[in-house]
Amino acid sequence: MKIAIGCDHGGIVLKPVVEEVLNKNGIEIIDFGCYDEKSVDYPDYALKVAEAVSQGQADKGIILCGTGIGISIAANKVKGIRAAVCHDLFTAQMCAQHNNANILSMGGRVVDKDLAAKMVQIWLDTPFEGGRHVGRVDKITAIESKYFK
Ligand code: RB5
Repeated sequence: MKIAIGCDHGGIVLKPVVEEVLNKNGIEIIDFGCYDEKSVDYPDYALKVAEAVSQGQADKGIILCGTGIGISIAANKVKGIRAAVCHDLFTAQMCAQHNNANILSMGGRVVDKDLAAKMVQIWLDTPFEGGRHVGRVDKITAIESKYFK
């Protein structure tokens, strides 16, 4: 399993925590930056991670900005991406279980390190439930096909 990670200066506080959890799980990391707290533009990092997932270079992605919002909005503009902003264990679990989210997005100014580590773990551990959720996720893909050229 390979996971692409990307963040801006607002999310970088959580990056070491995310890396630690991925390392503990024996997951290969593709690190698209950023690498320090210098102000950068989150769409640039969203695009790198989203393209890696969309093109199959990575199985999944984790993105981080101040709130998790901007970077997820940008990632969701890439075909095939289902990026979910999560703030707690329940949302991190459900985005995997019900939405088959292939990117987890968190805010470095919203969740603390301990919670972020637990959210990454539950997201990794939770399989897509399938069943009635397949048709719903397929409907998301159908919207994408209608509007993404
Ligand atoms: C950067 O200050 C901040 O706007 C960004 O990290 C993120 O929160 C945007 O959604």
